[in-house]
Amino acid sequence: MRLVLGIESSCDETAAALVTEDRRILAQAIASQDDRHAPYGGVVPEIAARAHAERLTPLVQRVLNQAQVALNEVDAVAATAGPGLIGGVMVGLVTAKALAMASDRPLLAINHLEGHALSPRLADPALEFPYALLLVSGGHCQLLRIEGVGRYRRFATTIDDALGEAFDKTAKILGLGFPGGPAVERLATEGDARAVPLPRPLLGSGEPHFSFSGLKSAVLRARDSGQYASADIAASFQRAAIDCILDRTSRALEQMGEVTALVVAGGVAANGSVRAALEALAGTRDLRFVAPPQALCTDNAAMIAWAGLERMAAGLPGDPLDIAARPRWPLDPEADTVRGAGVKG
Ligand code: KG4
Ligand code: ZN
Repeated sequence: MRLVLGIESSCDETAAALVTEDRRILAQAIASQDDRHAPYGGVVPEIAARAHAERLTPLVQRVLNQAQVALNEVDAVAATAGPGLIGGVMVGLVTAKALAMASDRPLLAINHLEGHALSPRLADPALEFPYALLLVSGGHCQLLRIEGVGRYRRFATTIDDALGEAFDKTAKILGLGFPGGPAVERLATEGDARAVPLPRPLLGSGEPHFSFSGLKSAVLRARDSGQYASADIAASFQRAAIDCILDRTSRALEQMGEVTALVVAGGVAANGSVRAALEALAGTRDLRFVAPPQALCTDNAAMIAWAGLERMAAGLPGDPLDIAARPRWPLDPEADTVRGAGVKG
């Protein structure tokens, strides 16, 4: 039974986890840095990198102790090697290299997006390839056909902001603090989603790409008009965003060919209304709907360990100790570049 130590440090969560081939998370720990970034209303890369450097090693020690596993009992050390904030990625990757060397085990340099893309299979053993994936996080908004381990076809991306970013900016505009997604979701429950007329960028367009910057500007104008209650703006924003997601996902599904399921992953997949809307869409197409539990949606190390286990099971080799951290790293290197897109990988 293979056992992999996973490390995640690409944004503002420092995380370590021990996961087995048969999908047991033996131990995991996540140190959030929300308190350090909150005064700035967003993640400050330099602060994030320093916090990872302080916290990661004791966190790894903690999960090993919790699971009562010695370092040389793991079969590989997997760490996010990109895309992400480069200082943080380097802390995680260099730590993993040292642990791999000390334990004489292979290093697995994992694409963070691959972690999100395969995380639904950690939660759901019945989920088979190929599946349609809506990957919605703070840095990414993509529709992919997940065809196998290492085989990812991108059908759409955002031409400007990621969906999580739009949630975070809306929260900032409404003075809800950081991180914004959960705060917008909470406030939206108290508002009327029809109260504020907001645009649905790219709705109905032929390519299934996303755009959220116009929506964000409209939220700013709505606030500045002084005509609307914050809860109504939050609810109307969330409704508009969901309308865009449903339209774009339907379009991509038409282009993808056969898939076993519609799957959502990434931080925004923690949003209950987003999940419910996608579940209904899957229902209209007789597709199974899969969403990982919330703790596996936002950044975590179990998904990185799991991606490592999937790579080992697929017979893919480990990575050399001189492998570089990558600020950008597209999941589908063949995908066309789209104006404004791919900025974060
Ligand atoms: O996947 P993730 O943890 O980090 C990245 O790889 O970016 O995603 C974080 C993003 C943030 O933008 C956060 O506001 C958003 O996911 N998010 C949510 C919710 N929980 C987290 N957005 C909407 N509703 C939520 N409940
Ligand atoms: Zn992420």
